[in-house]
Amino acid sequence: MKIIVTENYEELSDKAAEAMLAVVKADPSAVLGLATGTTPLGLYARMIRDRAEHGTSYARIRTANLDEYKGLPASHEQSYACFMRKNLFDGLDIAPQNTNIENGMAADEAAECARYDALLEALPRDIQLLGLGSNGHIAFNEPGTPFGSGTHVVTLAESTVRDNARLFRDIAEVPRKAFTMGIRQIMQARRVLILASGANKADAVRKMALGPVTEQVPASVLQLHPCCTLIVDRAAASQL
Ligand code: GLP
Repeated sequence: MKIIVTENYEELSDKAAEAMLAVVKADPSAVLGLATGTTPLGLYARMIRDRAEHGTSYARIRTANLDEYKGLPASHEQSYACFMRKNLFDGLDIAPQNTNIENGMAADEAAECARYDALLEALPRDIQLLGLGSNGHIAFNEPGTPFGSGTHVVTLAESTVRDNARLFRDIAEVPRKAFTMGIRQIMQARRVLILASGANKADAVRKMALGPVTEQVPASVLQLHPCCTLIVDRAAASQL
């Protein structure tokens, strides 16, 4: 795992944008694995700014997102589908049909997981962006998830519900279940770019980068990825 430590969140976002834009500019039909959460917001703002300033085209780019809350329609303002439109896609010239995410409203969970598995198989990702949960999760793969997992429905850890409650009006509104891409599929991406910012991630960053590779720390599997870059700010790197 290559580790880049930055002074602060702004520099982290600059470096992340450099890495992501290098992929987009090298191959205008690249497949991007994308993530939600507050950490990639600076990166997404820079991608939009780069498009405005340099005209970088996303007309042939395709994307696959990591995860989606179960029970939220794509129109719900807290859905990850909505998050992606608001924070990235609306600022690019990307065709909605070229963006992919699990359908949180799918009645048949198994069929939806099989659909997304087949889609990911047909759409090998050139780069997979990840944030890091404070409990070491990646996407919604919580501690204990088998490394061989494909797309599945998870019951969110209590700590994840608490962490994500800040984005809802009330903790009671946070969905308890979600669809998530599996760890096997994250590991299939050609490159992985994982971002972590802030002191509350320092413990998870240390376990991910320096601890044993264990299913109890899902992100530790990235030590085994042949091309993984971790960009952390000073606060998140404080235990390295
Ligand atoms: C959620 C998402 C993860 C994300 C994590 C961290 O749980 N499912 O993909 O990495 O939050 O979010 P943040 O970047 O807001 O700390």
